[in-house]
Amino acid sequence: MYKYSDFDEAFVRARTAQFRAQVERRLSGALTEDEFRPLRLMNGVYLQLHAYMLRVAIPYGTLSSAQMRQLALIAERWDKGYGHFTTRQNIQFNWPKLTEIPDILDALADVQMHAIQTSGNTIRNVTTDAFAGAAADEVADPRPYAELIRQWSTDHAEFQFLPRKFKIAITGSPEDRAAIRAHDVGLQLIERDGEIGFRVFVGGGLGRTPMVAPELRDFLPAADLLPYLEAIVSAYNLIGRRDNKYKARIKITVFETGIEAFRAAVEGEFARVRPLFSGVDQAALAEIATHFAPPAFAPTAPDHFEQTRAVDPLFRAWAETNLTAHREANHAIVTVSLKEHGATPGDASAQQMRLLADLADRYGYGELRISHMQNVVLPHVAKADLPALHAELMRAGLATANAGLLSDIIACPGMDYCALATARSIPIAQKIALQFKALGYEREVGKLNIKVSGCINACGHHHIGHIGILGLDRAGVENYQITLGGDAGPETAIGERAGPGFAYDEVVPAVERLLRAYLAHRASPAETFIETYRRLGPAPFKEALYGEARNAA
Ligand code: HEM
Ligand code: SF4
Repeated sequence: MYKYSDFDEAFVRARTAQFRAQVERRLSGALTEDEFRPLRLMNGVYLQLHAYMLRVAIPYGTLSSAQMRQLALIAERWDKGYGHFTTRQNIQFNWPKLTEIPDILDALADVQMHAIQTSGNTIRNVTTDAFAGAAADEVADPRPYAELIRQWSTDHAEFQFLPRKFKIAITGSPEDRAAIRAHDVGLQLIERDGEIGFRVFVGGGLGRTPMVAPELRDFLPAADLLPYLEAIVSAYNLIGRRDNKYKARIKITVFETGIEAFRAAVEGEFARVRPLFSGVDQAALAEIATHFAPPAFAPTAPDHFEQTRAVDPLFRAWAETNLTAHREANHAIVTVSLKEHGATPGDASAQQMRLLADLADRYGYGELRISHMQNVVLPHVAKADLPALHAELMRAGLATANAGLLSDIIACPGMDYCALATARSIPIAQKIALQFKALGYEREVGKLNIKVSGCINACGHHHIGHIGILGLDRAGVENYQITLGGDAGPETAIGERAGPGFAYDEVVPAVERLLRAYLAHRASPAETFIETYRRLGPAPFKEALYGEARNAA
């Protein structure tokens, strides 16, 4: 894993000291809330419905066991004993006291973490595949590039006041487990004629105007990454709209300019800035890459794994859904679900975080990841250790065998925490998970992504859910719109609105009718919900939602 240099360390410490002084000035009244606001946002501190919220960056979702333990300590000492992992591979603490946030930032700095650029109109935490460096299908490890981008973008003098926030995601695998085309810039590592480079997408995003990013470059040599990004962000910084907050994201810039004209602007900037990059970035990349060398994988035989799988149905069910192929045949990638039926998606208690850190030390070379699905991943576990790991996860209520299934729901904080919410999202996710557990057909339904947002900002990614649920306020009453056919993978698509919304109590029955329609119409049990939807289009699903079936269900 990447280790902070002396420079990084000094930078983060200086920032924390500066913020401590700013908080003191706010408390003494020397700063008004309006004056303080931009300062706190530069350090990831939001003011929410009930309290301040601190968003901490987990760069490209990678954590050491020591860092996870520190997050547990922070949750316990300064919050209510839990933290919330988000789709952008950050962790949010919902209940810190303003007076104590400088202490939290110091505690983070002790383990090389911080909250810089987790807010504001800057380049945010660079996200990537939670299976990076481990996945069998990976073309190249995206993490060194993500770290290079982090170093380049942190406190970048020109890019601290962009027209709007700016999100970059990288995938190293054709599967795209980072939803790259729903980001301002999406990067996909590919190999062409033996050379590693990037496919570059620009202008994707969700929110009130969801867009799938068009391709900007079909191949960018890896060595051109930083100058090309610099060109993209510079072009956006120049052309992006500052007159209207809702039209300020790069997706609108690209849409209004047109992709060809925008490409020309980027290429023009690129020609200008390319010579300014003298190769220092490439030296830095080479140095960074050494920190991402894989651990020395133990060559244990997987016999015990196979035997347990044959005799233990609980283990077998978990292995089927929560393991992913590792590049080393005798290892596996483990997804630890934070979606126990009825739990708040993405929440982890301090005890759970501590246990996961211990398990990572014992079975996973001390490394953890946070996935954009709001789960925790142990990227390298020897297959021989999986039965023991599973038993320990079971004891802690962390062995829910539902990764990728219908109760593996993404949900934003919604009305439970968020000042912008127009409806609840967490209880909707909880009710769906519990209902389908009770019905017992989660496995029969198979792969399905349900995503819930509490307002049009779409933090719950509902547009790219196979079934998306958007909570709105209709004259003081919660109303939920359903979208169908969205997808976050290589075939990223924005879901279509199915029709009129549903009342709070009608949502679960509506989802149930959709799933019954899918089961009735699928060509075979191997055909997933999204495949059936793509083959048949929305008609049979709309019929299930709004036709006579509605009264029959
Ligand atoms: C509770 C505090 C939060 C606030 C105030 C907030 C606010 C917002 C706003 C205003 C947008 C729309 C931006 C735009 O498109 O112009 C947005 C988008 C987004 N937020 Fe949040 N959010 C919060 C929590 C979260 C959480 C907990 C997550 C993850 C679970 C999240 C992830 C996202 C994502 C992925 C987008 C996607 C839209 C995009 O960038 O294209 N946010 N948020
Ligand atoms: S989608 Fe809306 S309600 Fe949900 S977290 Fe984002 S801003 Fe808040």
